[in-house]
Amino acid sequence: MKNILVTGALGQIGSELVVELRKKYGRNSVVASDLKTPDPEVMKEGPYEIVDVTSRTSIENVVDKHKIDTIFHLAAILSAKGEQNPQLAFNVNIIGMYNVLEVGRDRKIQKIIVPSSIAAFGPDTPKDNTPNETILRPSTMYGVSKVAGELLGNYYFTKYGLDVRGVRFPGIISWKTPPGGGTTDYAVAIFYDAIKYGKYECFVREDTVLPMMYMPDAIKVLMDLAEADIKNLKHHCDYNVAAMSFSAKELAAEIQKIIPELKVTYKPDFRQKIADSWPRSLDDSAARNEWGWKPEYDIKKMTEEMIRELKKKLK
Ligand SMILES: NC(=O)c1ccc[n+]([C@@H]2O[C@H](COP(=O)([O-])OP(=O)(O)OC[C@H]3O[C@@H](n4cnc5c(N)ncnc54)[C@H](O)[C@@H]3O)[C@@H](O)[C@H]2O)c1
Repeated sequence: MKNILVTGALGQIGSELVVELRKKYGRNSVVASDLKTPDPEVMKEGPYEIVDVTSRTSIENVVDKHKIDTIFHLAAILSAKGEQNPQLAFNVNIIGMYNVLEVGRDRKIQKIIVPSSIAAFGPDTPKDNTPNETILRPSTMYGVSKVAGELLGNYYFTKYGLDVRGVRFPGIISWKTPPGGGTTDYAVAIFYDAIKYGKYECFVREDTVLPMMYMPDAIKVLMDLAEADIKNLKHHCDYNVAAMSFSAKELAAEIQKIIPELKVTYKPDFRQKIADSWPRSLDDSAARNEWGWKPEYDIKKMTEEMIRELKKKLK
């Protein structure tokens, strides 16, 4: 992992992953990329390129220019945005993934790390302690694209020996960069509104339980999986990873321990149906056994840190 390319690097996960990758592998070894020119501050932090993953040439040019050997492929259209524009989600998530894999095959990339999602599951999947191997019949274009990505990654591994690795992320909670249009965004928005206004209108029902993970654990997932010894990996692109599961009401109650004046109302919209099609909790024993995955944050520790950091940020 000498020269690393991160696609979708300006997003919720990429903006934090790039910082940690640069700490570990060196500032100039990590090329951040996304669709647009970022703030001058981001440009100063290290190499940056514009890459549109729907264009194979766009990826190839940057891979050749920087002699890239590892790709963290994060560019995607998330679940809620994907239901509003399924054609865009297909193009970015499926064609984009295909382009990254093809460039990987052609340019002999050593490793590709790509997140899948709990959206790969669907209404027919067992909802509690969902196994790694189970029914994958999603009802959203985002979910369809994530199953396609998992299967394509596994195919390129078997057919071409391309080392593609991935996890099914639950909802990711963080304070640095706002989420980009997913169904679990309420678990971030509630913190902003609790601090700014003391009230929040939640777009899923109070009894909606979903698996979640705090960003430092999500970064650890990607970096640990990238470094894992391939000899120990029986899976490739489809590891369940879990950290915590809670209902919207339980999250509100945890925040109210620190911000007691918070008032939460519930007004479900189209995202409720998406949330209802996803698991409540995950069995991640394959990730724990094969590469030692173990989360550090539970709901209490995550909530305390989110409020502390956001209060500083929003001052
Ligand atoms: N955040 C979560 O809760 C979550 C949960 C499960 C899985 N994931 C997965 O993790 C990965 C990263 O997610 P995120 O939360 O950082 O998403 P995000 O929406 O915050 O960021 C995605 C980035 O991709 C960029 N992008 C969009 N189209 C592009 C294109 N054609 N070419 C290049 N870049 C493009 C966007 O500009 C954006 O900066 C995705 O694969 C996502 O499916 C995220």
